[in-house]
Amino acid sequence: MLYVLTSGGDAPGMNAALHALVKLAAQRGLQTVGVESGYTGLIEGRFRTLTPRDVDAISSYGGTVLGSARSAEFRSPEGRAKAAKNITDADGLVVIGGNGSLTGALALLKEHGVPVVGIPASIDNDIGCTSTAIGVDTALNTIVSACDRISDTARAHKRVFVVEVMGRHCEYLAMASSVAAGADACLFREQGKDAETIVSELKTLVSGFDAGKKRILVIKAEGVQVPTHWLVQRLQEHVDETLPGVSVRATVLGHLVRGGNPSYLDRMVAGRFANGALMALDMGRAGVMTGWQPWHTDGGQSTPDPSIWHFPLQQVIDTTDALLDGSSPVTQRRVKMMSAIAGVLSV
Ligand code: F6P
Repeated sequence: MLYVLTSGGDAPGMNAALHALVKLAAQRGLQTVGVESGYTGLIEGRFRTLTPRDVDAISSYGGTVLGSARSAEFRSPEGRAKAAKNITDADGLVVIGGNGSLTGALALLKEHGVPVVGIPASIDNDIGCTSTAIGVDTALNTIVSACDRISDTARAHKRVFVVEVMGRHCEYLAMASSVAAGADACLFREQGKDAETIVSELKTLVSGFDAGKKRILVIKAEGVQVPTHWLVQRLQEHVDETLPGVSVRATVLGHLVRGGNPSYLDRMVAGRFANGALMALDMGRAGVMTGWQPWHTDGGQSTPDPSIWHFPLQQVIDTTDALLDGSSPVTQRRVKMMSAIAGVLSV
């Protein structure tokens, strides 16, 4: 029996992974059982048999048809023991989710020998050992499209907009969308700037209106500990004195960024992750996560799919910690690149 669950923050493309997994498993003669509401459903034994007909055409839906949750009970050994008891017949448990979900999967393997395989899914792109996760591409497209719309109205009124985007602990979405949306500045936690420094730099930036700019767009990551509305108020006060008639507005995109039909890329990567998860079980490689590495850097085990690599969950978790605490060379490179182009964005 193959069990599958989606856990943590949903991400567009989770359904595409489910669709591929159920069909590919059926081809191998494996019956798939979907677990409702992530680890909560695993503890409560809320299961649903999934046939290829049940997942027909779900690839285009955002969210997850299985439902998702962040289970507090599963964080305890007792909760995990209850969950493991419900799946003693598991040939495999595929966990589609982010950092916390993958950590939970590893605990299930270590404590109860459940043959788990992880598939990375998080709009934040905050998971180690993979260059992307399910949902990242769609979220970025949504942000860029929202910023394009905001830019239309901003240009019409010659306004300054501060747009806040999701990404609690990792600000990749803010960084990547700033470049793609042609923002004038990007604010992200890893810069480590205090509130007054941010205000003072933005004051300098808004003076750009003197140089004939049509709109000023600032993309701010959710993780920056400066409230967006406070920032806008401070900027408005400055603009009132220096550029009368110019107004400053805020838009918090919030959960809007997490919904929507998955992009081609997210659907394609999700399908290949599902295939990679089944290959891991075929190869007796339980305890790994499928990583997307078309330009393979190092580590992991190769698979017949040249872009899919298998990484031990412990390595994924350690690499993720380093991504989030800033010690990872990937984070350092991102921060360096953003500071290198800061002057270019504002031109
Ligand atoms: O899934 C990741 C994420 O969307 C973060 O970007 C965000 O900070 C968080 O989840 C929001 O979580 P919730 O939906 O529980 O408010």
